[in-house]
Amino acid sequence: MGIPALNPKTENSYDFVVVANRLPVDRITNPDGTQGFQRSPGGLVTALEPVMASSEGAWVGWHGGIGEELESFDKDEIHLVPVPLDEDDLSLYYEGFSNSTLWPLYHDVIVPPEYHRTWWDRYKKINQRFADAVLKIAAPNATVWVHDYQLQLVPQMLRLARPDLKIGFFLHIPFPAASLFSQLPWRTQILQGLAGADLVGFQRETDASNFLRCLRRFTGYSTKGDVATPPADSDMQNLCRANAHPISIDTKTIAKLSRDPQIIARAAQIRHELGNPKTIMLGVDRLDYTKGIRHRLKAYGELLTDQTLRAGDVCLIQVASPSRENVESYMELRDQVELMVGQITGQHDTLSHTTLRYLHQSYPLREMIAMYLAADVLLVTALRDGMNLVAKEFVAAHQDGRGVLVLSEYTGAADQLPQAVLVNPHDIDGMKAKIVEAVQMNESEQERRMKRMNRQLAVNDVSKWSNDFLAALAEINAASSVHGSVR
Ligand code: G6P
Repeated sequence: MGIPALNPKTENSYDFVVVANRLPVDRITNPDGTQGFQRSPGGLVTALEPVMASSEGAWVGWHGGIGEELESFDKDEIHLVPVPLDEDDLSLYYEGFSNSTLWPLYHDVIVPPEYHRTWWDRYKKINQRFADAVLKIAAPNATVWVHDYQLQLVPQMLRLARPDLKIGFFLHIPFPAASLFSQLPWRTQILQGLAGADLVGFQRETDASNFLRCLRRFTGYSTKGDVATPPADSDMQNLCRANAHPISIDTKTIAKLSRDPQIIARAAQIRHELGNPKTIMLGVDRLDYTKGIRHRLKAYGELLTDQTLRAGDVCLIQVASPSRENVESYMELRDQVELMVGQITGQHDTLSHTTLRYLHQSYPLREMIAMYLAADVLLVTALRDGMNLVAKEFVAAHQDGRGVLVLSEYTGAADQLPQAVLVNPHDIDGMKAKIVEAVQMNESEQERRMKRMNRQLAVNDVSKWSNDFLAALAEINAASSVHGSVR
């Protein structure tokens, strides 16, 4: 299966190319029954829109179809280049190496990673397919920004084929400590793949230092500060800089939506339909074992059983959006979560009141904001999370200063939102005490914390994140062309 045929005028003409596993579009059925795409509402695409519009910008990624080859097309001023994946690619590259090897390994081996050579072979092949799609469209000296763990070999592939490119890479998930990363049979290749970039961005300082330590230990690179230098015999002679660039949200848009009268009315309706409980708690996650949903439900169930929380006074809305449903560990998690939901509601609900509303569904952004507004407390209890943008969105939706964020220490967001009620999700008793603290927090304390967190997010939004990253990448390239030696 090849790369979709490109209109010849699009070849080698894009100055700025983003490459990620997914294109920023969702498939829709038009009113006339035809199939189409609409832009997905992610912060990343919003942040990159101005850069895309001011330069010749393109986005390379999978469009979500199986075994379907599509021509490249334009959507809302972004040129989209679909990369096809067939059933075997999905099973070996996406569900296999990406989500059953790398994902658990990079999230502290919460479930055991599996190492299969057939998965690795397909990962290499698909990374080359994405790299080839970029190589076809990137203009001379273009900037290419590669995203996330599915595409860690792409920077090196681009570097070797086209030394003129400026290459950035951003890892959205954590980078593990050397003691865990060392398990990976292909650790050297992955590190060399990443080191093809001029700049590798991470969510936290710890991730960047883990990466640099691994480079030193498992490859011949030497490091000084945040810069890694290749060994003299390497076929890549670029320096690689690694540092933290914590991602954020489109703060202004979320804040604006939170003032929309229709959304405010919808939030009131949600509360009313749940019977106006004294306290509404909310969890919003992909149904993923990294999110600590079972730990959260355990703590909540115990608080009801020991009557620290009165069943009639509280309701927890748990949105668990479907994710990676063909992966065994996700199927098991769903069974476990749904068993716990049944136990809690069976024991504590009455005919007129539910203590837990479990929603295995995805919602549009406006409905999410209504839920954030309806909630008094957001529970983010991840066992490991690169950032957690839900925590940031909840805060941005509460410009009114109301509401409490309970936030796991194991999220990147905890570094930027220290005014949250921080919890260790492994410590069930500790977490129960913090949930009670959140439920009982007085309004002036809520406001004090929310306002400080909102000041942080007003400055550090997703546009600043992408501008800072791209400015750092441009600076490295300007310096290397002055000094000559490095690229
Ligand atoms: C995380 C990853 C993304 C991924 C997303 C959804 O946020 O960092 O790269 O796209 O999860 O997962 P999915 O497997 O559905 O793309």
